[in-house]
Amino acid sequence: MNYSNLKISIEQAQEILFELFNIKGITSELPGEVDFNFRIKVENEEGYILKISRPDEDSNYLDFQQNLLQYVENNGQHLIAPKVIKDKKGNSISEITDSSGNKRNVRLLSWVSGRVWSSVNPQLDGLRFSLGEECGKLTQALQGFKHQEASREFVWDVAQSLWTKEHTHLFTADDKETVVFFQELFESNFQEYSKLRKSVVHNDANDNNVIVSSALINPKVKAAIDYGDAIHTQIINDVAIATAYAIMNHNDALEAALPIVSGYHSTFKLQEEELTYLYSAIAMRLVISVTKSAINKIKEPDNEYLLISEKPAWEVLKKWQEISPDFAEYSFRQACGYVAHPNEEKFNNWAIKNSFKLSELFPTVQKNEVHNLDLSVSSKLLAFNTDFNDGDFFQFKIDQLQKKNTTKLIAGGYLEPRSVYTSSNYDKIGNNGCESRSIHLGIDFWLSAQTPVHALLDGEVVTAVNDADDKAYGGLIILKHQVEDLEFFTLYGHLSVASVSGKQIGDTIKKGDCLGYLGNATENGNWVPHLHFQVLLSRLGLKNDFPGVAYHNQINIWKSICPDPNLLFKNEILHNNKTVPNNDLIAYRKQHLGKSLSLQYKVPIKMVRGAGQYLIDQYGRKYLDTVNNVSHVGHEHPAVVKAGQEQMALLNTNSRYLHENINGLAKELIETLPPELNVLHFVNSGSEANELAIRMVKATTGERDIIASEVGYHGNANMCIDISSYKFDGKGGQGAPEHTHIFPLPDAFRGKYRGENAGEHYANEVQNQIDVVQAKGRGVGAFIIEPIISCGGQIELPEGFLAQSYEAIRAAGGLCISDEVQTGCGRMGKTFWGFQLHNVIPDIVTIGKPLGNGHPLAAVACTQEVADKFANGMEYFNTFGGNPVSCAIGTQVLQTVKREELQKNALEVGEYLKTALKELTKEFPITGDVRGQGLFLGIELVDANMNPLAEQTDYLANRMKDHGILMSTDGPDYNVLKIKPPIVFTKENAKEVLFYLRKIFAEDFMKTY
Ligand SMILES: Cc1ncc(COP(=O)(O)O)c(C=O)c1O
Repeated sequence: MNYSNLKISIEQAQEILFELFNIKGITSELPGEVDFNFRIKVENEEGYILKISRPDEDSNYLDFQQNLLQYVENNGQHLIAPKVIKDKKGNSISEITDSSGNKRNVRLLSWVSGRVWSSVNPQLDGLRFSLGEECGKLTQALQGFKHQEASREFVWDVAQSLWTKEHTHLFTADDKETVVFFQELFESNFQEYSKLRKSVVHNDANDNNVIVSSALINPKVKAAIDYGDAIHTQIINDVAIATAYAIMNHNDALEAALPIVSGYHSTFKLQEEELTYLYSAIAMRLVISVTKSAINKIKEPDNEYLLISEKPAWEVLKKWQEISPDFAEYSFRQACGYVAHPNEEKFNNWAIKNSFKLSELFPTVQKNEVHNLDLSVSSKLLAFNTDFNDGDFFQFKIDQLQKKNTTKLIAGGYLEPRSVYTSSNYDKIGNNGCESRSIHLGIDFWLSAQTPVHALLDGEVVTAVNDADDKAYGGLIILKHQVEDLEFFTLYGHLSVASVSGKQIGDTIKKGDCLGYLGNATENGNWVPHLHFQVLLSRLGLKNDFPGVAYHNQINIWKSICPDPNLLFKNEILHNNKTVPNNDLIAYRKQHLGKSLSLQYKVPIKMVRGAGQYLIDQYGRKYLDTVNNVSHVGHEHPAVVKAGQEQMALLNTNSRYLHENINGLAKELIETLPPELNVLHFVNSGSEANELAIRMVKATTGERDIIASEVGYHGNANMCIDISSYKFDGKGGQGAPEHTHIFPLPDAFRGKYRGENAGEHYANEVQNQIDVVQAKGRGVGAFIIEPIISCGGQIELPEGFLAQSYEAIRAAGGLCISDEVQTGCGRMGKTFWGFQLHNVIPDIVTIGKPLGNGHPLAAVACTQEVADKFANGMEYFNTFGGNPVSCAIGTQVLQTVKREELQKNALEVGEYLKTALKELTKEFPITGDVRGQGLFLGIELVDANMNPLAEQTDYLANRMKDHGILMSTDGPDYNVLKIKPPIVFTKENAKEVLFYLRKIFAEDFMKTY
């Protein structure tokens, strides 16, 4: 049929609309596969969609469509769906004759406003849950609907999907293998699948047929539109289709699927047997899709769109093939609130009635009492992750423990989150950044090599392999047990090679038989000898291997597949779980800790371990830390920890005794400072350092007036707060005290003076404050500023500002203090101290955070003149300042910076990151400014009119946290993202940050300004 003869113009559509429906509106054309569709906008209403069919359209099919929509309208409580609008005569389908004399059917439906699913970014769990919810509601509303057209032949019906078998020749080798794999799986279960309950379902909740609310934070699905594919089929197919599209473009397709399934189940209860076939139904919908594309490609070889549109379907198919169908089923069951493994209860009931002694497993050991060994992330047995890989040390610790507990078996570890699995084999990039397998699924028994292991039950060998080379289990045996009508497995890992070599698959093992012997370290991947004992209700189709550790987000599924082995032994001690839930910690904090203590992030994190540039939470999740400039040389740097531990074991006193450590630290520091600054006082915090500095000022100049920057922060003590505009001009503050004089934040990007010469203008503002002091008949005590103003939003001081200000202050008789609490100790990259970037020499330098790498240690460096004047006879005593432990730590921090060339690293990685971030500003104009030095950077988010974008900055930091990257925000307008990681931060780390920044910058909320 000639298309141009069929085409309906906008004007014609408008006329038809008015004639039939008496409606006037603004009309635009919409794409449509079959019908000619027009969007009708009417003021103050949602509007309509006008659908004009082709002359050859099957009127039976249109009747089906209209009846179905009306049925949904009558039955679907709280359901948003297009409504049928009847024409003036009361018909739901009208008829017109077009200009060529053809009869054409016309329908008018109400418009559902919102965004189409495919345009929504990000598509998070809550959104996918709501997709399931709405689809479930729709299926509920369609229950009982009948129409003869609903049972038509239809290529997009999953139940009819085996037609695709005729077309597998269209695929190349790998792709064909994938398609055939799913076809065969689907076909092999077809009989049972066919019996699943059926009804008419929407059958096409694809990413262009789903309408999402306009909210940019936590948007929800409003409705599924386009009922053209509705059909009478197995209900599970409808779940499968919604899922198949909504899991595209996610690294972990199965994880992405679960909220949809659980949302569906929340509004339309899915049956256990339906979930068995969901995995293959999802796959078959995608098989239909790629087969249709392959056929269309032959018809339209030049159509590039076909290639692009099939890509995500292929990606999901390939990922789906990697997933065990059984594991998928258990995951779906868990998402619907069923026990994940169907046999879990049966196993538990059997285990209640059958008890075993630990001495049956190890008859030669003959111990039934247990000492629970904590190897969780927060285990104190081995301080550093690297200790776990130090076999001798680990063995020594185990031996010590065994000596103290001679009558007990050392054991434990079921569902324990561990951070010891450091190999990248244990990591994957999930939907929210890097995930590590950390949850231990068995119980470990720490016994000596060659300890015999005996069978607890009759069984059959189903796995007997040696994978010592893979540094995993070593010798591995899995036995299958049949008890009553229950089948389950027991797994024995880390056996000796010899234990395995005699075993054949199918060998029968009798209760009490010796199964094998614990392997030694060389045989079991360099682990200290132990038996990993695990119970499995399913082998998930795996033959020669089975995971012993799982990802935390799958813990509920795994604990059902691998029940607690202690259910067999019922040992009280092994049962112990001491973890305090985070909510309890929060509740206690709220009640008993200072009310003005804040918690970071909307969902607070409990960190239990630090390692280099990472922090690890209680579940073993690793966070890349770009916030902690305190852990300067890396969290829990082994050399620093060791220095502290060793000195703490030896002596800790105050500085009134002679000790080399205090001199040692002084020497290390003096080496880094200009010769003028050669006297040190040691204190315990940055606040104390600034407090002391101000005392020195008063003693030296006899004046107490201090000039400081707007939004500056210098500590929490009385005097510090008095000179911190960040505090006294902020929430709860009462403005500047009489002796504090604030000049405008020297921000050349968005401050009072911008661009070139800003430095001079701001220095003049400092002069103005000097004048104010002098006008009151007083003299200037000091000028205090950070070289990069941190709380002010990583403000780099404009060129010339510091030198000119120092000159003015000195001319007025004041002292100059450089607050290096954040910026010092090599972080700047180009220089060791921040003031050195400006070619000035302060009279006093205050040093804090990085110096102790987390230990409370700070210092004040000053000139001989200041020191002499301060020593006016009054003793300076500080109980903790300069103690041998703190000094040992501080010395090691400075030596580590030198030894590991970390200042150079800060320069190189910082420059790399800053350059790349500047590139990012071209792509995302929201990033108004990128600034800073070394690994002390800031990104300021503004709109086109330079207005600050605090909400977007906060959103960004929280979304980065979702992806395992910790970032902080600051600045007077809370619109600066700060980057100040431990300076062991690598280029790879920087790349990771950039990757996720780019991802989040592209999200919808970041574009709302
Ligand atoms: C620039 C500056 N000075 C001083 C301090 C106070 O240091 P502390 O918290 O160790 O007392 C801080 C703390 O954040 C700071 O950022």
